[in-house]
Amino acid sequence: MKTEILTKDGVEQAAQFIRAGELVSFPTETVYGLGADAKNEAAVKKVYLAKGRPSDNPLIVHVAGVEQVREFADLSPEFLTLTTAFWPGPLTLILPIFPGSLSKSVTGGLTTCAFRMPDNQVTLSLIQASGTVLVGPSANTSGKPSPTTAQHVYHDLAGKIAAILDDGPTAIGLESTVLDLSEPAHLTILRPGAITQSELAEVMGRPIYLDRHLVKESETPKAPGMKYKHYSPNADVVMMPVGSGPADFAEALQAYADKNVGLLADDKILTAFPATPGFSLGAEKNPVSASRYLFAGLRELDETCDVILAETFADEKVGAAYMNRLKKASAGHWYGEK
Ligand code: TXA
Ligand code: MG
Repeated sequence: MKTEILTKDGVEQAAQFIRAGELVSFPTETVYGLGADAKNEAAVKKVYLAKGRPSDNPLIVHVAGVEQVREFADLSPEFLTLTTAFWPGPLTLILPIFPGSLSKSVTGGLTTCAFRMPDNQVTLSLIQASGTVLVGPSANTSGKPSPTTAQHVYHDLAGKIAAILDDGPTAIGLESTVLDLSEPAHLTILRPGAITQSELAEVMGRPIYLDRHLVKESETPKAPGMKYKHYSPNADVVMMPVGSGPADFAEALQAYADKNVGLLADDKILTAFPATPGFSLGAEKNPVSASRYLFAGLRELDETCDVILAETFADEKVGAAYMNRLKKASAGHWYGEK
């Protein structure tokens, strides 16, 4: 199959592919998604096949507005408060659904479903033009970093999907915050993202919990996707201690002198090592900018390096999502620790 690269003028053509049961990758503010008609069982099955994704890992249903969710679920007060505050945006909300309203291949056999309204006009237009709602896992091969450009999607899925809607690099760069609303008294973040625990708590006026399985990776977590080894480049990713400067990176480069090392760090660090391959996380230490470039950097450095030394941030606020992904990519490996 030839994979077409479309721009925003190609939305109608992309919608025709969706209506015909084909797969189209769509842009969002977080990462590129792999879209299919959520109500077409054969199309949803193709998504798992194209990604090589385990079939017990449920999908997010992407909608163009709150009203589209009513077909599948009762909209709880928590859902309405949070969507008013954060939709369209990088917040995925899990609700109990009407039995049978979505197929088992969408929900992974759970009695709940994840819903999200992405903040991207091209994709909102695609959903409307398709006349349906779209499943949309990240458009990467399972186990690879999520794609933040159309080129990343092409690299992983060319020949396997009908089209990619190219709207340039994504702004946030990490997948949405996933919040479980299925126990209204105990709202729980299953995956940290750009919308933080404290922002959610402020809007809800009560505590928001973090799934402890986010920390204890060995147990079966609530979000089925969290149990798989994600974001795993072939290179060894090594986390530098928080606040590391050029002198710390120089020491680590010495320690790995016999390896092909790449640096994933801000410009202030990279300019100190002009002869070492590097990928910029931004002009200076900033978790928002670092989040935007993390996956692109892992993909690029992984092509040529055996070891990637990566900048880190405090595991809080926006740094929590970056550190969650980086800890997985590095399998928890800090410089100086075994
Ligand atoms: O930013 C994003 O969320 C991107 C863009 C494309 O929207 N999508 C994305 O989808 O990251 P995916 O499939 O790669 O990740 C969805 C996560 C998985 O960890 C999955 O297990 C979890 O959400 N999930 C989905 N439905 C669930 C449910 N009903 N209960 C618990 N976890 C669920
Ligand atoms: Mg994914």
